[in-house]
Amino acid sequence: MLFRQLFDAETSTYTYLLADEATREAALIDPVLEQVERDLKLVSELGLKLVLVLETHVHADHITGAGVLREKTGATVVASGQGAPCVDRKVVHGDVVRLGGLEVKVLETPGHTDDSLSFLCEGRLFTGDALLIRATGRTDFQNGDPGQLYDSITGHLFTLPDETGVYPGHDYAGHAMSTIGEEKRHNPRLAGKSRDAFITFMKNRQIPPPKRLDVAVPANRACGRVVEPPQAQA
Ligand SMILES: [Fe+2]
Repeated sequence: MLFRQLFDAETSTYTYLLADEATREAALIDPVLEQVERDLKLVSELGLKLVLVLETHVHADHITGAGVLREKTGATVVASGQGAPCVDRKVVHGDVVRLGGLEVKVLETPGHTDDSLSFLCEGRLFTGDALLIRATGRTDFQNGDPGQLYDSITGHLFTLPDETGVYPGHDYAGHAMSTIGEEKRHNPRLAGKSRDAFITFMKNRQIPPPKRLDVAVPANRACGRVVEPPQAQA
């Protein structure tokens, strides 16, 4: 598998490029609108064809590049049916999305948002904002639920092999990747913590909302394409 990790410094967002080296078919996970030209240039330079855009969830902190990439390349946008109505293929837990000869397994990991998915491909786990490195996504908007997030992480992600690579949707501390075993041992919100302790910790956090929450969520429900309000009928 051809693999690249890309970063948007403005929003600390990771975008991932996966491709089948034989068929040259490529997928982008969680592209950022402002980085679409960078991503398309890389796809072109590597001799790839973008066929899939995978979204882990409806983001609140940046606008997705999914809609623009779909227009420019014809790629299929894949996400949960619980989230944005604009997606082409709505997937559920256990679905397999094919990328050439590669298989991307879909895991429903709600709790950060109700539509959150993780994707597993060839030993790499793309966790969106469910499991971050030494942290987790927040649970205080978009139908977030700390108990549900605890269950998603401990019930689905932490049951994967310890050596599984963890590739999150964001990092704010300079980390690029981790492993399931490392997070089980060292994630301060989860290692040795009960479900009740996790819920209490998450509910007691006092953090400001993301700066672009009011703009990003409506835009992302339209795959990042800003929809003009309909003209009033004469
Ligand atoms: Fe998020």
